[in-house]
Amino acid sequence: MKHRTIGLDSVGEIGLGCMGMSWAYGSPDDAESIRTLNRALELGINFWDTADVYGSGKNEELLSKVLKDRRDDVFLATKFGNVFDRAMTSHQDLVAANAPWIVDGTPEYIKKAFDQSIKRLGVDHIDLYYQHRVDDRVPIEETVGAMKELVDQGKVRYIGLSEVGVETIERARKVAPITAVQNELSLWTRDFEDDVLPYTEQNGITFVAYSPLGRGFLTGEIKKFEDLAETDGRRNMPRFQGDNFETNLKLVSVVEEIAARKCVAPAQIALAWVLAQGEHVIPIPGTKRVKWLEQNALSAGVQLTSEDLDELKSLEGTGDRYGMTGMAFLKR
Ligand SMILES: NC(=O)c1ccc[n+]([C@@H]2O[C@H](COP(=O)([O-])OP(=O)(O)OC[C@H]3O[C@@H](n4cnc5c(N)ncnc54)[C@H](OP(=O)(O)O)[C@@H]3O)[C@@H](O)[C@H]2O)c1
Repeated sequence: MKHRTIGLDSVGEIGLGCMGMSWAYGSPDDAESIRTLNRALELGINFWDTADVYGSGKNEELLSKVLKDRRDDVFLATKFGNVFDRAMTSHQDLVAANAPWIVDGTPEYIKKAFDQSIKRLGVDHIDLYYQHRVDDRVPIEETVGAMKELVDQGKVRYIGLSEVGVETIERARKVAPITAVQNELSLWTRDFEDDVLPYTEQNGITFVAYSPLGRGFLTGEIKKFEDLAETDGRRNMPRFQGDNFETNLKLVSVVEEIAARKCVAPAQIALAWVLAQGEHVIPIPGTKRVKWLEQNALSAGVQLTSEDLDELKSLEGTGDRYGMTGMAFLKR
């Protein structure tokens, strides 16, 4: 596994998104997830991404089972700020309750959230601590100021922001260094190509690409709505619904054609494309299965020619990235 840089650290150029192990994408399988986490370290996939909200803490607790023996081998990122009014351990809960969520970026909340996260993770510090979504009620300077206090106390090594635009990053950087920005980036989500992607490159900030496989859609494994289990949160996402689904399948067929030509998997094309967006970009594909992890690890060796890149250039997802509530918090 080759490496890329976050702050002064070097991590495997393919990271691991841990959300789906506990939340959002069908039923959890903790035993297979733990095998996946251990296998990740064998493969050099040491940049792990979680958040306090994933399964209302369950995902952080799951990671703790491996971290207790391997803390020094992992570059650990978690997030705070998305808050539900009661424990939501699955997307089903969310939908059933039509649960509204709020974003909390107040200094008081951050201190509380941080203490709870390190307790669940069983660690004494976090390598990269992100604000998950910007809180409109709290100036970003105030939120980042509170995050900086955690850095000054040696509890957090680097500060990150998720789903932010250039203006917010610029304001935040006046208060403390912003080491990483985590925004969605994939063949079907190009929203940041013209602004945040070049801005982060020019300013030495790592762009962490979340949902780099289009939440699994770009892998070609999801061919019809019913392929998603009834408990799967993607059933509530516009891109997986109705006509959007059918239109987006055409996009997948382009990825599949290129993959077939190169005798690799579509997922590997999707990840190779993200890696090709700049040396400062690190994709964090999510999986709870060893077989997908191993396939994704090999995507770093897939070379895309300029012809391949041209073919992939004009692809774009149809439909909003999130349902209505989620859309309201994007790219502040
Ligand atoms: N900052 C944010 O707001 C935000 C939002 C969303 C996600 N994230 C982070 O980003 C990470 C990755 O995003 P994501 O999980 O949403 O989406 P993703 O990485 O685009 O896709 C994950 C899905 O793809 C499937 N998959 C993975 N590798 C595969 C392969 N080689 N072949 C076939 N299927 C494959 C997984 O299946 P299995 O589940 O069966 O393994 C899972 O359903 C998350 O885990 C989370 O840490 C952050």
